[in-house]
Amino acid sequence: MVSYKDLGLVNTREMFAKAIEGGYAVPAFNFNNMEQLQAIIKAAAEEKSPVILQVSKGARNYANATLLRYMAQGAVAYAKELGWENPQICLHLDHGDSFELCKSCIDNGFSSVMIDGSHLPYEENVALTKQVVDYAHQFDVTVEGELGVLAGVEDEVSSDHHTYTDPEEVIDFATRTGCDSLAISIGTSHGAYKFTPEQCTRDPKTGKLVPPPLAFDVLDAVMEKLPGFPIVLHGSSSVPQEYVDTINKYGGKLPDAIGIPEEELRKAAKSAVCKINIDSDSRLAMTAAVREIFATKPGEFDPRKYLGPARDEMERLYKHKIENVLGSNGKA
Ligand code: G3H
Ligand code: 13P
Ligand code: ZN
Repeated sequence: MVSYKDLGLVNTREMFAKAIEGGYAVPAFNFNNMEQLQAIIKAAAEEKSPVILQVSKGARNYANATLLRYMAQGAVAYAKELGWENPQICLHLDHGDSFELCKSCIDNGFSSVMIDGSHLPYEENVALTKQVVDYAHQFDVTVEGELGVLAGVEDEVSSDHHTYTDPEEVIDFATRTGCDSLAISIGTSHGAYKFTPEQCTRDPKTGKLVPPPLAFDVLDAVMEKLPGFPIVLHGSSSVPQEYVDTINKYGGKLPDAIGIPEEELRKAAKSAVCKINIDSDSRLAMTAAVREIFATKPGEFDPRKYLGPARDEMERLYKHKIENVLGSNGKA
């Protein structure tokens, strides 16, 4: 058993309480490799922002679970080396799909886990989430549950339509499971194609697609039922057009990719939404930078010469999110 406390990590409890009180959200950035982790830590350390390092089941399989744990421990040491005296870094399992996976993460140094039973019948979701909470809380590990289904790929289950969270269920779910935070569905979705062109309107001036608004009425109803309870938004990448354009310019093919407008995320961050999940934007930043170098410097074959600029681009992206979207700068 490796305790996250011995690795210098923190759980989400205090992070979320401060975020709700302060009207901002903590960034949850997914990572799979060293360059993403370096960029996240540099951005968080320089911005003095609490940060959640998010690891999916796929990332764990890709990078190796043991190596990931040491990378997270290394991240704390790196943050201190960068001058962040008291780093507020959480290591979180994203979309855990079984008790065994959550237990394995808890036993290996994770400070927080998500158990995603959102695709299960309600009573099964309650039972599974409670089982994880009962185990996790023995070690002061925090647990995120989910109610409602997001469109897109979630938990290796692909859904082409979403089901908004039913505000009538949230009190019962939170009370019976004892979860520490709740991911809800209000119209966000995973990946770089969050809406079909048919779901959008076109701006007559620019010709650009304008996505439908998020269901803030559902968020308001959830907050009314569970005042002060930490709410999580998945699928919150904005799919910056400049990355999509660069990727397409240099041989990529991402037609009509579209994300969540930043104004909507800014509004959400000021509410009880205290964790905002971003993965796809980092993938786009990395891909845009690498494609540009491959196309403009075809003689380059030193990975540092294309992964280095990709890392710099991701760092710029993370800082932008922290400062201009989530408002978590200076909070740690
Ligand atoms: O919510 C999904 C995350 O973006 C992780 O994606 O399972 O491809 O690592 P992944
Ligand atoms: P995006 O695909 O919008 O980045 O969402 C990531 C996410 O929700 C990870 O759990
Ligand atoms: Zn997610």
